[in-house]
Amino acid sequence: MSITVRKFDAVIVGAGGAGLRAAIQLSESGYKTAVITKVFPTRSHTVAAQGGVAASLGNSEEDHWHWHMYDTVKGSDWLGDQDAIEFMCKKANECVIELEHYGMPFDRTDAGKIYQRPFGGHMSNFGEKPVARSCAAADRTGHAMLHAMYQRNIKASTQFFVEWMALDLVRDDEGEVLGVTAMDMETGEIVVFHAKATIFATGGAGRICYSSTNAFINTGDGLGMAARAGIPLEDMEFWQFHPTGVAGAGVLNTEGVRGEGGILRNSQGERFMERYAPNAKDLASRDVVSRAITTEINEGRGCGPNKDFVLLDISHLDPATIMKRLPGIREIAIQFAGVDCIREPIPVVPTAHYQMGGIPTNYNGQVVVPGKRSQNEIVPGFYAAGECACASVHGANRLGTNSLLDLLVFGKSAGESAVEQLKQSPKAHKELPPGEIDRALARVDRLNSQKDGASVHETQLEMRRTMQKHAGVFRFADLLKQGVAKILDVQKDVQRTEIRDKSKVFNTARIEALELENLIEVAVATMVSAEARKESRGAHVRDDAPDTEEFPNGRDDRNWLKHSLWYKDGNRLDYKSVKLTPLTVETIALKKRAY
Ligand code: FUM
Repeated sequence: MSITVRKFDAVIVGAGGAGLRAAIQLSESGYKTAVITKVFPTRSHTVAAQGGVAASLGNSEEDHWHWHMYDTVKGSDWLGDQDAIEFMCKKANECVIELEHYGMPFDRTDAGKIYQRPFGGHMSNFGEKPVARSCAAADRTGHAMLHAMYQRNIKASTQFFVEWMALDLVRDDEGEVLGVTAMDMETGEIVVFHAKATIFATGGAGRICYSSTNAFINTGDGLGMAARAGIPLEDMEFWQFHPTGVAGAGVLNTEGVRGEGGILRNSQGERFMERYAPNAKDLASRDVVSRAITTEINEGRGCGPNKDFVLLDISHLDPATIMKRLPGIREIAIQFAGVDCIREPIPVVPTAHYQMGGIPTNYNGQVVVPGKRSQNEIVPGFYAAGECACASVHGANRLGTNSLLDLLVFGKSAGESAVEQLKQSPKAHKELPPGEIDRALARVDRLNSQKDGASVHETQLEMRRTMQKHAGVFRFADLLKQGVAKILDVQKDVQRTEIRDKSKVFNTARIEALELENLIEVAVATMVSAEARKESRGAHVRDDAPDTEEFPNGRDDRNWLKHSLWYKDGNRLDYKSVKLTPLTVETIALKKRAY
């Protein structure tokens, strides 16, 4: 079958913050750059990021990138790579100022500087007390960021392919990445985007879970494509539950609410975080707060008729502050919880929010895999940035507002690395390997011809229920074991899903079926990696991990201070070491994590 081939210097999959930032780098350097995106760029999931982007600008109190680095290493429960963390925290100010110069409408202090608010786990002076580090545009920071970077891309002539879905990576026999196959959702046509450099910025996969703050588009497409092309997925057992999703709806209530002075209370009206984190209280790290809320609920101190949520109270704040700093939150509380937070507290519950793991990269945004010469050999022509990538700066738990920072810093560095590659080898495109293209076509053909198959809707529901029950905020050895068996059963159904509507034009049933094939790779990687990691660390907390002096909070550095790598082929796990040596400063030494 003949297939249209379109040639570009670079193709970027995903038009959220990371994709847009990488595209600016390439287009402004004069390279012909395509961005493939399932939705219009300013509707990408970055739009949902509310509270801010971390940078130690020190606009309202003293701050330093080294303190930020310390907090990030500690937040990661020492699983983050310290070279990448130093790189990110040092680059933060430059990237935020750059964004300001693109026209990002940050809130301002009285002195006209970028407004900053405190966020969980961000402290001054190596863990002393909360510091205002999160640079905010009210509670719509991601929204403002997308608009600023989209406009910059229009100016730089980036070519956007909107309502296109990437299907598979094209990789030749030598392992070099030569682009992707993609489907035009409007017509059903499949096209090869043949490129010298390919950047994945496909975001997260929160839709593996039943209750999630993630958009419906967050289906782990980049991870699915990478896994099918033989690239391992790193640290997939680590999933962040945001402490304050609206109860029953899952919609995000920014941590910025607590940054502005919001307080969490149980059914007795108690500010319970004082017991769990006496120093940072409501501004402890997210995993700590999510576990505290879950414990309150499990021990019968939840609110409401079913005692299944806690309350986030800002009724003591000046209404003018709420209207100025948190207008979106007030709107969300009214729409999704039926309460006006100026007068009443908001019912909240921990909700799946962010994957710490992803496609393994170095801090230059280059995808790396274990090879004969090292654990981190570069995959030629392939880059990843943002939530789909694992640089790894978040380790076992991410600090709030470090995600917007991650996508700016590593979107830019992936773009810079691709520009460098294009400069150094300005040769013609390599020949396309025909077998690889057939792989993408075969997936679509199977869907077109499948009879007596499984329902996409029921299979995805089963996957979400399994993930929620077996790999939640607290994890249990027996549930994880059962979870592996269950999710492998679900995977069998995914391989035989059937769609009734075989039409080509805007066939959303086909898109959902293809998305499910990506989600299931993420779900299996998560469950298998979580079952195998026999310790507690960051967001991964097991009932069978002893909390002793030797194993603080259940963390076992002797056996588990290592990154996991899950391979689709053979559903197998491998491990690689954590980079404990930063670029210029001393290692942040291992110690017990407390807030
Ligand atoms: O709470 C929030 O505004 C979310 C920020 C983040 O996930 O970094």
